[in-house]
This record gives sequence, structure tokens and C-alpha cells, in this order.
Amino acid sequence: MIMSFEDLVEKHSAIKARSILSLHDDNPRRAQDFSVSCDEMLFDYSKTNIDADARTLLIELASSSGVETKRSAMFSGAKINETEGRAVLHTALRNLEGAPVLVDGQDVMPEVRGTLERMSDFANAIRSGKFKGQGGRITDVVNIGIGGSDLGPAMATLALAPFHDGPKVHFVSNVDGAHIADTLKGIDPTTTLVIVASKTFTTIETMTNANTARDWMANKVANPADQFAALSSSEERTTAYGISPENVFGFEDWVGGRYSLWGPIGLSLMIAIGPEDFVDFLRGGQAMDQHFQTAPLSENMPVMLALVGLWHNQVCGYATRAVLPYDQRLSRLPAYLQQLEMESNGKRVAMDGSALECHSGPIVWGEPGTNGQHAFYQLIHQGTRVVPCEFLVAAKGHEEHLEHQHRLLLSNCLAQSEALMRGRSIEEARVLMAEKGLSGAELERQARHRVFPGNRPSTTLIYPSLTPFVLGQIIALYEHRVFVEGAILGINSYDQWGVELGKELAVALEPIVSGAESADKKDGSTQMLVSYIRANG
Ligand code: F6P
Repeated sequence: MIMSFEDLVEKHSAIKARSILSLHDDNPRRAQDFSVSCDEMLFDYSKTNIDADARTLLIELASSSGVETKRSAMFSGAKINETEGRAVLHTALRNLEGAPVLVDGQDVMPEVRGTLERMSDFANAIRSGKFKGQGGRITDVVNIGIGGSDLGPAMATLALAPFHDGPKVHFVSNVDGAHIADTLKGIDPTTTLVIVASKTFTTIETMTNANTARDWMANKVANPADQFAALSSSEERTTAYGISPENVFGFEDWVGGRYSLWGPIGLSLMIAIGPEDFVDFLRGGQAMDQHFQTAPLSENMPVMLALVGLWHNQVCGYATRAVLPYDQRLSRLPAYLQQLEMESNGKRVAMDGSALECHSGPIVWGEPGTNGQHAFYQLIHQGTRVVPCEFLVAAKGHEEHLEHQHRLLLSNCLAQSEALMRGRSIEEARVLMAEKGLSGAELERQARHRVFPGNRPSTTLIYPSLTPFVLGQIIALYEHRVFVEGAILGINSYDQWGVELGKELAVALEPIVSGAESADKKDGSTQMLVSYIRANG
């Protein structure tokens, strides 16, 4: 049976008034029935209004969209990124001891393993002090990159802080000179390694910051190139930049920027936590790959996470999704997921170029709890728009001496999803106001401000503790969610043409902003802003 979003929209309108809490009351096993496990990780989507029939329809939608066939195509190296004629094989980077993976008839695994070994040797040399800067043992590593060449390693390095036992790792991405100036202040160039992370090795922000770092180092170091490494697909450009081949770690065009953390782009993370923990991170990703490829759709975590996402966005019409890690070390996860999800699934045409008949992927945003509670949760609880919330939390923190704080963190996380589902009725609010001694019109007025509509959907991803393995599972889970959502929407999740126009215009504007060229041919707003810059800059 061919399923469409219209069938689901019809189903939704029939059930949307029903309370999520009543679904739990009617089925005491709802939590178990509407949750999925992968190893020790648990994804609970029982606090949504998806019922058994809606789930069946969603799974039929996935099947009739060919998700399973497309999944096999991706893992086997087919060129599913059709607009760029590329395979999509970040999964090969974590295919530890796995079967051959063929691209154009050639097994890519020997090269993948060879690069991982070279990265490990290099990271060990940095960590042990065998690789030295002019001033001795490397104390600081500065990763210069942007987008996928920054967000992944920056997010993961912060996430795995308890596992750091290498040099201090810093990340510079913004072309705003403030970023690199603040980062380099206070670190010693003679004991710093600069990693230039750029798949293309042409990205203007990265190359500008790399030049600034090279000039900074040249003031104190005789041969700055000796303290530079490069992570890129372009050997030609890294060589032209003067970085010696033994400090260059390459990867192929079948690794997309936002999917590249698992290979050379993860070098800064590997230096921070060590190759063994990095391999554990890969193992976590690999475990999720195996689960994704083998679990039946209804028990498949990435599939169910994607279907819940599509239900909320394309079916219920909720435009955004909040990612709320109750895990301070996952504070960069929302930013990372913004690129992963919005650069992948923010597309307005289907693979064949025809206009998309439904909305593309949602607007993803978020902040760690509990901080968000004291900022924007007001809107989530009482605003007029529904924001599906995705909570993440570890059962156990790393700070054993601060267990009481972790209990408070957990209680807050659970309290939020309960409050969103349960809400507070006008009757309950009236009782509260009466207890406070109010009566009459004032009681009624005050009570109305204290009503929570409730019935607001949320999901919770809970894991034992944030280890390299678990982080690998989490990242691969979200990658596959993007794949499933994109496959059902029929779009190409692996190109990003939408970032090009702004890049081209920025290059053309640079001589205008600097005053070398006239702004006459620009629109009125741009001309006015350029004049302002010239007058005040
Ligand atoms: O501009 C978008 C983008 O191409 C991302 O997809 C990518 O992660 C980022 O720029 C950085 O690209 P590169 O690694 O080639 O410098």
C-alpha cells in the first residue's frame, strides 16, 4: 500500500484532540510499547500522541518510500548524492574490521584503515611528546575549520571532556578576527600545533584564519609549516600551502563535511582523548549502523526517531523542534544538529527537481537544560505554538562527588516532559489561587495566567553515561534519522547548494566594502549599508 502524508494528516485530525496522558492511562504498558532500545540506550516516544494505528501508518510510509532499499544503497556505496554524483559513505569510516565497501568497483576500506592508523600514530606522537614544536612538547592544538570541519570535532571534544588527557584543544571557525585573536591570546606559538581542517581547502573563512595563524606563528617559529597539519580531500592544495605530506590526512569526496567527524576531521578529538577512546567512539557509531541495518522498522531507533520527527513536522505542522540536552557537555549538540539536519534536509525540491509537495525538514534549535528552563521554556509551556521537545540525559554523571547535582538534573529533565504532557487545568489553577487566599474576579484572572495547556509532545533519549561509545551511538543515530527523513521526503540530503549564493556575493562585495570598487550597481539597502561602513568603519 502506498502511504502518503495526506493519509497521516487525516489520521492526525481524527486523534489530535485526544490527551497523551489518557493514552498512558488506557495502556499501562504504553511507555514500553512506545519506546525503542539500542544496546543500553533507550528512546522513549510515549509522550507523543502517536498511537498504534498512527505508528503503523508511519511505518507503511517508510516502507512505501523505499527506506530499506535506499539504506542498502547508501551502505553499499551507490552514488545516492545524485546532484554531485557521489557516494555517501561516512559509515565506512567506522566500519571497523568490517566487510569491503566498494566505490566504483574499488574497496575503500584499506585506505580508511591506513588513514586511521596514520592518524593514531600522529596523535600518539603529539600526546607522548615525540612530535615537538620549536619550543618543545605540544601544549596546545588549534583546529581551524568551519561548518562540518568545526562543529563535529568541537561538539565531541567538549562532550568527552572527562576523557581528555592530551594537549589543550581549541577551535577557531569564525572569520571575525575576534575569534582567532581571543583564541591565540595567551598560548605559546612555539608549542602549538595548528590543524587546518577543510575538505575543499578553499573555504574563505578557514583559509583566512589559517593565514593569520601562520603569521602569528612566524613571529616566533622559524618553520611554521612544521607545526601545521591539514585535514582535506585536496592533496594538491595542502601541498601548495606548504604542509608536508606526513602531516596531511586525506579523505575522499564520499565523506560529506557534516558527516566527517569519524575520519581525519576528528583528529583534534583524537589528540584530546587518545586513539583508543576515539576507536570506542567509532565503535559506538558502528553499533548504531548495525542496529539501523538490522532492526525491524518499528524497533529501529533511527527510523522511529525520524518517523516521530516527520509526524510532528510534516503531519502535525509544528515548524520547529527543540533539542534539549540535560547534559552541559552536549551544549554544542544543538548547533551541530542544526548543520546536520538543516543543511541536509532544508531542501525545496525533490531528487528529480520537482517542487516538494510538503514542508522540508524542521527548524532545529535548543540549549542545554536546566539553563533553557530559565530562558525560553515559558514559550514552550504556555506560548501559542507547539514546539516538540527532544530531551537527552545520562542516567549517571561523571562527577561522582556531585551525585546530588546529577539527581537534580535528572529530576528537572523528567519534570519538564511530565509538565509538557500533563499541563495544569483551569480548575487546578483555581484551587491554587484559592489556597493563596484569592477569590472572585481576581482569583479567576490570576488562575488563567497559571493554566498550562499540556498535551505538548516530547521524546527522551536516555543513556547510561556519556562515554565515547555512547556519543558515537548518539551521533550516528541522528545521522541516520536525517537519512530516513530525507529518504521519505524524497530529497537529496547530501548536497548543500543553498549555501553557495551568499558565498559568491560575499566574494563580490569584499572590494566594494574595502572601497576598491563602487557600490553603484547594488540595491539601495546595500548601498546605504556600504556608505555607513565607509563613514564609520
Ligand atoms: O558552506 C557549507 C560547507 O560547505 C559545509 O557543508 C562544510 O561543512 C563547510 O562549508 C566547510 O567546508 P570545508 O570543510 O570544505 O572548509
